[in-house]
Order: sequence, then structure tokens, then C-alpha cells
Amino acid sequence: MITEKQKLLVQQSFEKVKPIADLAAELFYSRLFEIAPELKKMFKGNLNEQGKKLMITLSVAVKGLDRLDELVPQLEMLGRNHVQTGSLMNIMI
Ligand code: HEM
Repeated sequence: MITEKQKLLVQQSFEKVKPIADLAAELFYSRLFEIAPELKKMFKGNLNEQGKKLMITLSVAVKGLDRLDELVPQLEMLGRNHVQTGSLMNIMI
């Protein structure tokens, strides 16, 4: 369960990330590939575009903290898609 205070902290912190979303995505993938270089080959598309998808989804999720009943099933679906496409297999095994 997330408290009202935790929710606000996450939302306020994310507001600071928004103006540097491209950089944040870049940092995410460079750290990911640093700790798990074998995942690199799973990203077939343009990494900038992928970074935009990541940040848009995070932004929707952070906003969605106000509506957990709607957010949770959507994120569960995203998680299932990741497992199906094998994206998270290396991490889970
Ligand atoms: C360890 C963390 C993660 C890994 C290894 C991972 C891996 C991947 C891979 C391999 C793809 C497919 C890329 C391609 O087809 O070129 C993908 C797609 C995607 N990921 Fe992730 N991902 C991670 C975390 C996240 C997070 C935290 C989010 C957002 C909250 C996210 C959102 C997405 C979205 C929106 C797509 C596109 C799905 C689509 O086009 O249908 N991912 N991910």
C-alpha cells in the first residue's frame, strides 16, 4: 500500500525528471546495459524511441498513482508483455 505522502513525494520528484526526460532515459539504458550487457540485443528498435516509450509510460504510471485500481492491471499487462517477449527472462532466471 502506498501512503498519500509517498504518492506526493513520487509525483513531485517525477516533475523534476520530466524536463530532462531524454537524459533520464539515456541514463536508464546505459546503467541497464552496464549491469546486464546481454540485454542489449533484445532492443531491436531505435533506442531514442524506446526511451520515449519508457518515459511516457513512467509518466502515465506516476500520474496513475491517484487511480491504483486502474493503474495496476495496466502495469501487470505491461509486465506480462515483457515476459512474453522475453525481455525480462534473463533477469528472472
Ligand atoms: C529491466 C527493465 C526493462 C527491460 C529489460 C525492458 C526491456 C524491454 C524490451 C526488450 C522491449 C522491446 C524493445 C524492442 O522491441 O525493441 C521493451 C519494450 C517496452 N518497454 Fe521495457 N524494459 C524494462 C523496463 C521497462 C519499464 C520500467 C517500463 C515503463 C514503466 C517499460 C516500458 C516499455 C514499453 C512501453 C515498451 C514498448 C512496448 C510496445 O511497444 O508494445 N519497460 N522493454
